[in-house]
Amino acid sequence: MKRFLKLLGAAFALAFVAAVATVLWAWKYTDAALARRHAPPSIGIAQDVRDAPLAAGERIVRVRNGCPDCHGKDLAGARVVDSPVVGKVYAPNLTPAGLGSWTDDQIAAAIRTGIRPDGRALVIMPSHEFQHLGRDDLAAVIAYLRSLPAIERKVPPVEVGPLPRVLYAFGKFPTLLPVETIDVSRGFDEKPHEAPTAAFGRYLASASCSGCHGSEFRGGPIPGAPPDWAAAASLRLGADSRWDLAGFMRTMREGRSALDGHALRAPMPVAVLGKMNDVELTALWQFLSTLR
Ligand code: HEC
Ligand code: HEC
Repeated sequence: MKRFLKLLGAAFALAFVAAVATVLWAWKYTDAALARRHAPPSIGIAQDVRDAPLAAGERIVRVRNGCPDCHGKDLAGARVVDSPVVGKVYAPNLTPAGLGSWTDDQIAAAIRTGIRPDGRALVIMPSHEFQHLGRDDLAAVIAYLRSLPAIERKVPPVEVGPLPRVLYAFGKFPTLLPVETIDVSRGFDEKPHEAPTAAFGRYLASASCSGCHGSEFRGGPIPGAPPDWAAAASLRLGADSRWDLAGFMRTMREGRSALDGHALRAPMPVAVLGKMNDVELTALWQFLSTLR
């Protein structure tokens, strides 16, 4: 019995040392990635920003892409997570008090490629989704941010905790640093006319749903998500004949699955996406129904 306890003790000690060594290795590995500098692309968007309609920008920022979910209702900065395990992630001030000294191109590069003006990679900021915004839509977003009242607020710098570091180092959380998943020099997606068509639905789904539901919309666990988040559902609606347009609209607006009635859990952004209009939701349904 004594011998067994000794062996057990040794096994625990060994496991502990191995765990500490893994975290230390992941820490250094992630530090190296965080220190890497990336060359921001030159986009040349200033003229488009000057001509852009503010209402279109407001709709993308507040409804289609839910920037306030992270940056705060007033877009002046807010906490995303603050925990010893995940780290401190605050989304910064996007009002003129925060971005006033940035050029339009610098803001565009941050949104589209996840690269800051100093070449640092933005952490968590979902540029892998926003890279699919067409040129006019990105310009409208910037014009809208410029039109906001300047609100003074500073958020603490991002500190990445042990869990995302270990996941990142093992290749399980590539979108910790979205820039590393993006072809920085790729051109803009062509934006189809806004109409209840599959073409517009594909455009919307790429820019608004792919970050959680995956680029193929197959669903599954969201990379790097805290343990209490639900896995994303498959959005290949054509695979299940029960997904008719009315049921899809009801699901999106009421936040209850039309299939089994369960209340959709975090982080499905029902409060934001439920404000999509009939054209947007019909387009999404048209596109998602083509996927089997
Ligand atoms: C999932 C949360 C999340 C969402 C949604 C999000 N952001 Fe961010 N964003 C962040 C975080 C976190 C940072 C800071 C990252 C860092 O400092 O490494 C950031 C940084 C930025 C920056 C750089 C600002 C600076 O001072 O460094 C811009 C610009 C930006 N976001 C714009 C947007 C826009 C526009 C939208 C909506 C289209 C949006 N973000 C949606 C989390 C988010
Ligand atoms: C921030 C992450 C996130 C984003 C962005 C997101 N979803 Fe979801 N979605 C989820 C999660 C997680 C679930 C599963 C929730 C549950 O089952 O409780 C879900 C569930 C759903 C469901 C319910 C499926 C079912 O089986 O009942 C639909 C429909 C849906 N999402 C559509 C969309 C569409 C369309 C978009 C883009 C316009 C979108 N989602 C964007 C995370 C997200």
